[in-house]
Amino acid sequence: MNTQKVDFRSIPDEGVTWTLLGTLYLRAWESRLPAPILGDRYAAEVMERIDYDFDKLGRRLRPSGNQFLVGLRGRQFDDWSAAFLARHPDAVVLHLGCGMDSRMLRLDPEHRLHWFDVDVPQVIELRRQLYQEQGNYRMIGASVTDDGWLDAVPGDRPVLVVAEGLLPYLSEPEVRGLLRRLTEHFRTGELIFDAMAPWIVRMVKVARWGPHDGAEVERWNLRLTCAEEVSFGEHYRRIPVRRYRALYRLMYAIPLMRNMARIFRFTF
Ligand SMILES: C[S@@+](CC[C@H](N)C(=O)[O-])C[C@H]1O[C@@H](n2cnc3c(N)ncnc32)[C@H](O)[C@@H]1O
Repeated sequence: MNTQKVDFRSIPDEGVTWTLLGTLYLRAWESRLPAPILGDRYAAEVMERIDYDFDKLGRRLRPSGNQFLVGLRGRQFDDWSAAFLARHPDAVVLHLGCGMDSRMLRLDPEHRLHWFDVDVPQVIELRRQLYQEQGNYRMIGASVTDDGWLDAVPGDRPVLVVAEGLLPYLSEPEVRGLLRRLTEHFRTGELIFDAMAPWIVRMVKVARWGPHDGAEVERWNLRLTCAEEVSFGEHYRRIPVRRYRALYRLMYAIPLMRNMARIFRFTF
């Protein structure tokens, strides 16, 4: 990691780009708990390097217990990713909408895998000031909705595609197009993403797409098989603070709440 402070103050206080600062802040906060769920110590290190009013952001985000949701979600993504990579040490990893997440440091600290972090050009420009390309690690500044950027990625190996907190911000045709390009480019692999239920999408200003279930995505793209779909709250027992554990247990018991945000694992 580089060492000088990077100016993020130009990022507006709302909108999709802002959300990457929210998830980074919450992961850093979660990592400081005595018994964290994800425990992403790199998030705290990266945050230290960013010039931004994180206190203001924290006042907006933390009181509702979002740090546990981000911890639970990140844990599920990392666990499924690690299981795939253990079975496919020759895999290519595509981490879409990576923001400032340090997943490659958590899962591939030696940079052995062919790992590509992808986000829009403005975000990758900032990311390059915090992280360095080294070993087989590369960053691609492109919208995942564009054609062309996949040409830089070898298609002849099994692929792990990870999209955490990305697909809700795309439209349905954009998601369909992305999934089609991925399954055309790679012969085999896994795709892990999270999504909100359609009724939540209607309530969240910046959200645009959410599936009813995994079968809906299978119907669009016949190469994809939904292997697992779990609620964000699936592992609520791991929440280390009693009142939030009780709150998430209650939400988990109500199907409408349990299914409002889910994580999907597809194989192809
Ligand atoms: C909620 S943040 C999640 C960031 C990261 N995955 C994390 O968990 O911290 C959403 C990310 O998706 C990125 N994003 C949104 N639309 C995109 C697009 N069309 N192409 C690539 N990245 C996009 C944003 O720039 C942002 O970094």
